[in-house]
Amino acid sequence: MDDTTKLLLRAARGEALPHAPVWFMRQAGRSLPEYRELRADIGMLESCRRPDLVCEITLQPVRRHGVDAAILFSDIVVPLQAAGIDLDIVAGTGPVVATPVRTMADVEEIRELDPAAVGFVAEAIRLLLAELDRTALIGFAGAPFTLASYLVEGGPSRHHAKTKALMYGAPDVWHTLCAALADITRTFLQVQVDAGVDAIQLFDSWAGALSEADYRRYVLPHSRAVLGGIVGKIPKIHFGVGTAELLPAMSEAGADVVGVDWRTPLDVAAGRVPGKALQGNLDPCVLLAPWEVVEQEARRVLAEGTKAPGHIFNLGHGVLPETDPDILTRLVDLIHST
Ligand code: CP3
Repeated sequence: MDDTTKLLLRAARGEALPHAPVWFMRQAGRSLPEYRELRADIGMLESCRRPDLVCEITLQPVRRHGVDAAILFSDIVVPLQAAGIDLDIVAGTGPVVATPVRTMADVEEIRELDPAAVGFVAEAIRLLLAELDRTALIGFAGAPFTLASYLVEGGPSRHHAKTKALMYGAPDVWHTLCAALADITRTFLQVQVDAGVDAIQLFDSWAGALSEADYRRYVLPHSRAVLGGIVGKIPKIHFGVGTAELLPAMSEAGADVVGVDWRTPLDVAAGRVPGKALQGNLDPCVLLAPWEVVEQEARRVLAEGTKAPGHIFNLGHGVLPETDPDILTRLVDLIHST
């Protein structure tokens, strides 16, 4: 399919469009009963390694909502496990790492990612490309800071205290760790690009925990190594939460599109990252309010998004599990008719 018909790619290039393309972070997942049914007896990471399931789960929100992009069903820890790190995703908790990484000796244990170890992802992408037509397929990975946070903390954390303690207290260990993670992430994204995804998104979900100065010093070089190291002319999206103060620095990492959470209006964000297309930024909690509120807020986001060279409508973070899927479908219809 000629990519001129894929709205998401045109928005990423900053072209004027009849309406904004729309997709939702975490659109494939627990807000859908058909997903919960399929995953009833199968572990999260096991399902990520089965191309047939990845293909089906990735397609579920496309069929149901008519979104303009599918995001590959996977997780940011999939390449870490494929590189030999002992971890699991525990329902209701998130990623849990068997032996947290704290010392240079721990970092030296981390192996490179052999592309063959994520062959199941390439296979899933091949299955998906045979099914998708005008819907763009987005591949993704976690950025070094967010991945490092899980590895150092051993699981999800509120303050990222151990992560920051390592960053400030042992910068050599920190930079060696992030360089290793950047290499794994770049390889993982390249596998997806080579298999034919239309765009990629780098999730640095927890980067907002840092000041701009610390982000520039401890994180930006590594995220830049990821985005700059990808071979292939595809749009790159870079997203984090709580990043209002980091948007200019993040925009220097090399992405074409900057993701914005719900805290920063898109017209303000457009002023902070001139020349970049934007993605976002409806508050996911708004979807739990009556439809009139959803409509009003979505129209505001669309109006503010016109200040950017291109706008991909999305939420400010992922779909919450308790979201009514019918509201998502109605929202897609609204965006497409506005
Ligand atoms: O639809 C999509 O967006 C694609 C699927 C996707 C998943 N994880 C599936 C998933 C994507 C893009 C991710 C990325 C991811 N994983 C991020 C970055 C995006 C973000 O939300 O900021 C992060 C930080 C993770 C780590 C992670 N994995 C967390 C925090 C959790 C939630 C823990 C929980 O149970 O509440 C997971 C598990 C996970 N990843 C689920 C899904 C569908 C839920 C597991 C399940 O269904 O049992």
